[in-house]
Amino acid sequence: MEPGLNAEVLLAHAMRCDRVYFFAHPEQELREVEWIHYGRYLHERMQGKPTQYITQKQEFYGRDFRVTPDVLIPRPETELLVEAVLERRSGARVMVDVGTGSGAIAVTLALELGRPVAAVDISAGALNVAAANAARLGARVRFAQGDLLHCFGDAVADVVVSNPPYVATGEAAAMQREVRDWEPHLALFAGDSGLNIYKQLAPEAWRVLKPGGLLAMEIGFGQADAVTSLLGDWTGVRVLPDLAGIPRVVVCEKR
Ligand SMILES: C[S@@+](CC[C@H](N)C(=O)[O-])C[C@H]1O[C@@H](n2cnc3c(N)ncnc32)[C@H](O)[C@@H]1O
Repeated sequence: MEPGLNAEVLLAHAMRCDRVYFFAHPEQELREVEWIHYGRYLHERMQGKPTQYITQKQEFYGRDFRVTPDVLIPRPETELLVEAVLERRSGARVMVDVGTGSGAIAVTLALELGRPVAAVDISAGALNVAAANAARLGARVRFAQGDLLHCFGDAVADVVVSNPPYVATGEAAAMQREVRDWEPHLALFAGDSGLNIYKQLAPEAWRVLKPGGLLAMEIGFGQADAVTSLLGDWTGVRVLPDLAGIPRVVVCEKR
């Protein structure tokens, strides 16, 4: 986020007002307590804490999600993953979001489709945040704590969707400090190659999906070939670019 925009967002947060009110009332003076809040937020920001963890919110697909350091801050690119599922399987009955984090994907799908969605995460802290987001936004999401799809039976799902951890551990030193030092490592890193979760998730999704079921996954920069090479048994494998033209989502169907 631009420094100027950061400062405005934090100042509006200190005043406990939205940005429309903030710009509509340039004459309003800060009360002492608001100065104190603002100073604290700037100090936290200077330590590298992401603005979204200070304000505890991030917009995703037009809705505000609460975020804490227990969850990855949802990224705009991930909206493409949601779009890919909505375009291909709007009639699906059983959808599972693997690695739900803040619940951004599962909650959005449940609200857009008006149907329940299942969601799993290995992190109890993330599930608390996701459940609170689902309750506040009125989404019907059934949450489970577990390792990938272990807690699901065979051939039960129409869609498995996931934005898994995909950063190689060796890339940590080159990452932005806001990300590396503040976002949960469980949400970021996936072994030496960054492919560990894809290698486990693809065969598990094959087991859990019904024939013809859809697997949709977000991928990291430069991972398209490596990830699609794990999908030899699948049909209709496609790589979808994001708005910057970067390959970002892989979709495929179980034969
Ligand atoms: C990249 S974050 C995605 C969060 C959210 N879905 C989003 O797109 O903003 C990955 C999530 O996967 C979870 N995770 C990591 N390993 C997992 C595993 N083995 N089983 C289930 N969830 C896992 C992490 O706790 C984290 O919440």
